[in-house]
Amino acid sequence: MRVALLGCGAIGSSVAEALARGEVPGAVLCAVFDQVAERAERVSRLFAPAVPVARSIEELLGSGAELVVEAASQQAVQQYGERILRAGCDLLVLSVGALLEPPGQELPAEAVRLGRRLYIPSGGIAGIDGVRAAAFRGEIETVVLTTRKPPHALSPETLVQHLQLKPEQIQQPTQVYEGSAREAVRHFPANINIAATLSLAGIGPERTLVRIIADPTLSVNVHEIYVRGTFGELTLVVRNIPHPENPRTSLLAVLSVLEMLRQICSPGIHLGT
Ligand SMILES: NC(=O)c1ccc[n+]([C@@H]2O[C@H](COP(=O)([O-])OP(=O)(O)OC[C@H]3O[C@@H](n4cnc5c(N)ncnc54)[C@H](O)[C@@H]3O)[C@@H](O)[C@H]2O)c1
Repeated sequence: MRVALLGCGAIGSSVAEALARGEVPGAVLCAVFDQVAERAERVSRLFAPAVPVARSIEELLGSGAELVVEAASQQAVQQYGERILRAGCDLLVLSVGALLEPPGQELPAEAVRLGRRLYIPSGGIAGIDGVRAAAFRGEIETVVLTTRKPPHALSPETLVQHLQLKPEQIQQPTQVYEGSAREAVRHFPANINIAATLSLAGIGPERTLVRIIADPTLSVNVHEIYVRGTFGELTLVVRNIPHPENPRTSLLAVLSVLEMLRQICSPGIHLGT
């Protein structure tokens, strides 16, 4: 499987390092692109011979890629998503929040029209398989995501806007937001892609309730998922170690991309997908 990488930051470079070590049999990195050229060049040099660095999305898509891994930004999905699918590539999306707003909202239907696949890894959470199974007949009543983060893991501007407090002024666990997943993604675009993933798996962005709590007693990000429906109840807690290069990203998010690539690229067992 020829894989192209869009975005060479914390997640993109960790995924590339794993591919360079041969951790995903059958996956070959064929080109990399980042709006900051040095980042793409650094990733390219992880390989011998070096992987071609694309200077534009057209060059990336001209590399013969069959699958593009997006690890860039919601803006990149909005800007390039449709072009990627139209070029005949499948697309793995990490900036999932982009799929809740136009034009990214149209990508799932566009993928169906074009016979392409849009892959969404579980990212920083877990249990997406169970939520999808529970939603199969549309019989979920409630989905709640409660995310607790150390104040510095939330953007200072967002904290000031919602609480009129700077991160260092938060002395005790304080609720920053409660509302729909759709609004959560608008207010916290870089922090809460998992709310988008959970809402796509379950009952949609309007009915998925999200709470965000700034908690100065924490050193990890904690996500609690609660689902109730005709199947019964599901409760799940993930305590995520932050990614060493970007505290807003978790190691689990990187591993979820690698595991999804493994499933895409190899025959054999496909668990919970
Ligand atoms: N789904 C999940 O659970 C989950 C978890 C963590 C992060 N994310 C999302 O994944 C994305 C990548 O995360 P990260 O931690 O690697 O971020 P990062 O900031 O470390 O890296 C992003 C890279 O993409 C590049 N980039 C951004 N927009 C671009 C564009 N339009 N064109 C070309 N390059 C562009 C940046 O220059 C940067 O090098 C972010 O959108 C983040 O919110 C999702």
